[in-house]
Amino acid sequence: MGPISKTHKDTVLPDFVQRHFQRDDAEHNHRQIYRILREGIRQSAYPAGSRLPPSRDMASALGVARNTIVQVYEQLALEGLVHAGVGRGTYVSALAPSCSGRRGDGRPRQGAPLSGRGRDIVKGARASPLQWGAFTPGVPEVRMFPAAIWSRLHSQAWRDVDATQLSYATGAGHPELREAIAEHLQHTRGVACSAEQVVVTSGTQQALHLVSHLLADHGDTVWLEDPGYWGARSVFRAAGLNLQPVSLDSEGLAPTASQRAAPPRVMFLSPSHQYPTGVLMSHGRRRQLLDYAAANRVWIVEDDYDSEFRFASRPLPALQGADEHGRVVYLGTFSKTLFPSLRIAYLVLPPELVDSFSSALGELFREGQTMQQVVLAQFLRQGHYARHIRKMRLVYGARRAALIEEIGRRFGVALPVFGGEAGLHLVLGLPANVDDEEVARQALAAGVMTRPLSLYSLRKPAPWRGLVLGYGAVAEHEIRASFDKLAGVIQPHLG
Ligand SMILES: Cc1ncc(COP(=O)(O)O)c(C=O)c1O
Repeated sequence: MGPISKTHKDTVLPDFVQRHFQRDDAEHNHRQIYRILREGIRQSAYPAGSRLPPSRDMASALGVARNTIVQVYEQLALEGLVHAGVGRGTYVSALAPSCSGRRGDGRPRQGAPLSGRGRDIVKGARASPLQWGAFTPGVPEVRMFPAAIWSRLHSQAWRDVDATQLSYATGAGHPELREAIAEHLQHTRGVACSAEQVVVTSGTQQALHLVSHLLADHGDTVWLEDPGYWGARSVFRAAGLNLQPVSLDSEGLAPTASQRAAPPRVMFLSPSHQYPTGVLMSHGRRRQLLDYAAANRVWIVEDDYDSEFRFASRPLPALQGADEHGRVVYLGTFSKTLFPSLRIAYLVLPPELVDSFSSALGELFREGQTMQQVVLAQFLRQGHYARHIRKMRLVYGARRAALIEEIGRRFGVALPVFGGEAGLHLVLGLPANVDDEEVARQALAAGVMTRPLSLYSLRKPAPWRGLVLGYGAVAEHEIRASFDKLAGVIQPHLG
């Protein structure tokens, strides 16, 4: 795969395409390239007016049939994202339909046939179709997942399968998995629970969907950490809740006096490793919020998404363990400790909520994936899970150190680093006058994926600027070269 020559001043070199493309069969190639280019255009990594490489060059650089590229370009043209230019060649449209309301042929588009809620969901979407490579946040090192063990457990599970495991699932998850999760949480996270309180869901997103529909009504207020997890924000918004951003200080969520005077129905917290800033909620603040929740009948949703990976000290116990009034709904996921496409997460509920959640889960989603749950239960039971976490803690610790070293080497103390004590990501702070969204767009065009901190805020303009950098999806030896590219993008913005 040789680099593509520049045939035109504005030709966009598909370095970014090459980085994210993995050759597969023709159909997958087509879909992948289409998605990568569409995302590049959507995020302005390919600015309006820029020329895409000639299909022949792009095809030979990626090692795919030219026809594949021609078809991708045709599809993008049909959607109005690109057009054929005067001197031939394919150009990114000046008015891409998603922002212009115009079709590729220049005529106004009919509005997409969505409800107001549907439009809000799509407009607020933040998930990237690119989920691998430096410095994609939120993705663990899936290449080190012990696939051989998993596969062996899988074969075993299928040898022993019974009819109930293949029929519709009933209840709140495979009983052995619920037990194994409860045990794991008691020992490692200080969560006070029995297996009956555990409800297995398809990812945290589904758990949040249940919370937002069962514990709040349309128009009820939810407090969200700001900056905070946009995935939760999207679910709460789609459920019609009133989103109230609450600032953070060095001890965690810091509601103002006027906010405290109007208690919400739900508050969404990540006390062990605030997402994305990494603030660890102090004991005092935990106590205050638990007391406030008990006094005002507020539900606290505790998202404990990545606290297994704490490097400098032992993980702090979960907030749930200190809750004496049954106000905390605890959320955990296997997305960060194992792999995200597993889509297995769980709720730990106050006992009075378990039956309702379990019943609503079946009613709304017809839960299943029992065989995956059987395998996962054995994976936990036989100690593979704890071993994998121990191993990955070392791996992530080394990557985190390498990244922090690179940041120091390139910027000294000029740019602060937040939240580097735990998890799979850190935040590189940028001065308040830097447009972090623009920096992220340019970084993407240079082949480095980051998330601008301002996208995590509900407030406009966002009060914090920076880049969220994940180190789960990049090998340690690639960190320097990738950070060099990123630093090259950041430097001119620092003035
Ligand atoms: C703050 C936070 N919570 C939870 C999750 C996990 O979500 P899921 O279990 O749906 O993969 C993520 C993933 O990025 C996250 O960033």
